[in-house]
Amino acid sequence: MRKQIAAANWKMNLTIDKAESLLDGIVSAGISLSGNHLAVFAVPFPYLQMAQQKISATNYFIAAQNCYSKKSGAYTGETSVEMLQSLHIKYVVLGHSERREYFQESNSFLAEKVNIALEYNITPIFCCGESLSIREAGTQNDFVAKQLQESLFHLSATDIQKIVIAYEPIWAIGTGKTATSEQAQEMHASLRNVLAEKYGKEVAGNISILYGGSVKASNAKEIFSQPDVDGGLVGGASLIVDEFVTIIKSLK
Ligand code: PGA
Repeated sequence: MRKQIAAANWKMNLTIDKAESLLDGIVSAGISLSGNHLAVFAVPFPYLQMAQQKISATNYFIAAQNCYSKKSGAYTGETSVEMLQSLHIKYVVLGHSERREYFQESNSFLAEKVNIALEYNITPIFCCGESLSIREAGTQNDFVAKQLQESLFHLSATDIQKIVIAYEPIWAIGTGKTATSEQAQEMHASLRNVLAEKYGKEVAGNISILYGGSVKASNAKEIFSQPDVDGGLVGGASLIVDEFVTIIKSLK
């Protein structure tokens, strides 16, 4: 059965003291996760080791928010997956819309990052999603399908099942404007269908597809209850202990 995942995306927020107390607060809530449930925290690079240490007695995971596409070398300011692996990091967020928009990350560049992450046994949380203008034009399903096709569809059937997909409509990120649970379900079903056409129904059914965009404690349960929504990637609400604890508890 595919995993249900609550993933926190801290983005470029929190100083070390605040980051520590946020994790302490969440860990001390003592949530017990079933085998099918996962909680992942994508923290800023300088906090990876601290975060790994804080969650060491739990079954939570720490993620990086990005990585570079090369193994090592003269790439000042970049972080390799080899470095992440040496810190025992198991997840990396790739292709967040903020990276696509502000750092010009293309589908083909993201394909390279996906490849190197898999080579080092690090699970990509691969983000996709359309802008408001694409949604208004009604071409969102094709647009998001293309993001998957160009970054992921070179993978084998075995490797595609190692990917976690996060559908995040850009117009819903940080805006307080959540997609309705019907809009989320409609897109998730469409993506699963695109995956099934390429890899078959069984493979498509094994891939977790998270929803992201203004998920909070008050709407998580309804969104996560949709049949093709397997949890969420959460920005703002993941910075508040009680909010994120409730979101983890809202996994189906
Ligand atoms: P948000 O961000 O929950 O603050 O909308 C989600 C994300 O960008 O991952």
